[in-house]
Amino acid sequence: MEFKAYLAEKIAGALREAFDASVDGIPGFLETPPNPEMGDFAFPCFRLSKALRMAPPAIAGKLSERIAPDPVIERVECVGGYLNFFLHKTGYAQSIVERVLEQGERYGSSDEGQGRVICIDYSSINIAKRFHIGHLSTTMIGNALYKIYEHLGYKCVGINHLGDWGTQFGKMIAAYRKWGSPEQVEQGGVNALTELYVRFHKEAETDPALEDEGRLWFKKIEDGDPEALRIFNKFKEITLKDAQRVYDMLGVQFDSYAGESFYNDKMQPVIDELREKGLLKESQGAYVVDLEDEGMPPCLILKKDGATLYATRDLAAAFYRKKTYDFYKDLYVVAYQQDLHFRQWFKVVEKMGYDWAKDLEHVAFGMVSYEGRALSTREGYVVYLDELLTRAVEKAREIIEEKSPNLADKDKVARQVGIGAVVFFDLFNNRIKDIDFRWERVLNFDGETGPYVQYTHARCCSVLAKAGELSAAPDYAALDNAQAQEVVRSLERFPELVREACQRNEPSLLTRFTVELASNFNRYYYENRILTEDAAASAARVNLTAATASCLRTALGLIGVEAPEKM
Ligand code: ARG
Repeated sequence: MEFKAYLAEKIAGALREAFDASVDGIPGFLETPPNPEMGDFAFPCFRLSKALRMAPPAIAGKLSERIAPDPVIERVECVGGYLNFFLHKTGYAQSIVERVLEQGERYGSSDEGQGRVICIDYSSINIAKRFHIGHLSTTMIGNALYKIYEHLGYKCVGINHLGDWGTQFGKMIAAYRKWGSPEQVEQGGVNALTELYVRFHKEAETDPALEDEGRLWFKKIEDGDPEALRIFNKFKEITLKDAQRVYDMLGVQFDSYAGESFYNDKMQPVIDELREKGLLKESQGAYVVDLEDEGMPPCLILKKDGATLYATRDLAAAFYRKKTYDFYKDLYVVAYQQDLHFRQWFKVVEKMGYDWAKDLEHVAFGMVSYEGRALSTREGYVVYLDELLTRAVEKAREIIEEKSPNLADKDKVARQVGIGAVVFFDLFNNRIKDIDFRWERVLNFDGETGPYVQYTHARCCSVLAKAGELSAAPDYAALDNAQAQEVVRSLERFPELVREACQRNEPSLLTRFTVELASNFNRYYYENRILTEDAAASAARVNLTAATASCLRTALGLIGVEAPEKM
């Protein structure tokens, strides 16, 4: 950014001299050319052509005459409508490498978010359902966004909006009282709960009275009946204990577990307000907010029997969050299938007249399939996350055993690599794309994978260990070659990418960045010796290596992947 600011000032000066014009936002116009032969930065003059009534190449020509080489700028060239800047390579490398080293894990951070709160609703699991691969994306995208926003100075509130309310829980209690026992659910965990639910449905086919019993118990939960609540809280505890194991493996945390049932007593004021504002319409006995003018089906607020809905709870939750946290943004990391749901109730908030409706955002993501096949609970094709992660760790352990039999602490490294590989894979593509989970791609050490990037980081660490303490002052002229410059460029891009990942709620930008930096470094590493007789040159190359390691570690950390020093 510093370079952009510097060049922007030069451009502004040239604009003033040549056209007596001033333009806002020049740093943002500066682009990185697709290849280094075209310079380090490019300024597209197309944007000025209308205001200056001149063809872009002519503008570029006039500006270039007024920008002289200096200690930062080596030369300026005009190509097409672009003004291409070439920087002095030595100074460029030195300033970036030293900045990365000086800032360490704070590199790419800022305080632009200071005083602003971001609520992030992620993972948001349902009670009595076992954590499966379909929950991976919401959990890891949410976790990454949490870290990315924090890096930029925001205060984040991570919310696990538990699905802990619904008629199915009445049925489960009925089933539990008939066929279950404390020991059975204690030992069987979430699986035992699922079995009870399945049995309920099977037996209800021949015994319709069961349905009434289910309804009765649901009513009891709602009325706060002590026994109903005791059993239900037990179910909740069991589910959360199970989920916690997975969260621990993934290194994910939450600040709040306020789920759907938390809003039981917080919906009435919202419903009243909707009515007062004339937004609530009766429709076949139910109450809805009409959204026809928005081209959407109505948003259901109350059922015929007076029961509230998913949307009613989300509305109450949004008001609660606004009041409690006064959020700058309230993000919902939820699969794209729920797109309509979010658009509907966001619109309801807007119709109620709250301008913060614009701060509600659905961060949608695609579906995950496993080894080429869509998952389906009904067909029994489910992949539980704890099993998947355990298997990833085992597989990583086998690879490590084969590649580095003498490594210390193999168990720990296998955990970091196995779980890191799964998380990395999940966050590699644009979040909206569907993902097909394939083992051969996840744990491939040579592809665009977590292990590849981790391995590069470990390689840097081992170079640094070998180098030890260097006393010579670095001579950055040693980095005046194409491969080193590519590494420097990648390092330089990082702070901007963090910001972009935040603006677009897109962690994959950082995942891909780590691959770019790692492969640029590897290319450099294969073609250059780092430690040579020349102590000053070695020191510069070691610094480049240290900066790469540090930046890789920071970037991986932001997406929730660990970086072992040896592997
Ligand atoms: N529990 C819901 C599900 O599994 C996701 C909840 C998302 N968050 C929300 N505030 N609606 O589909």
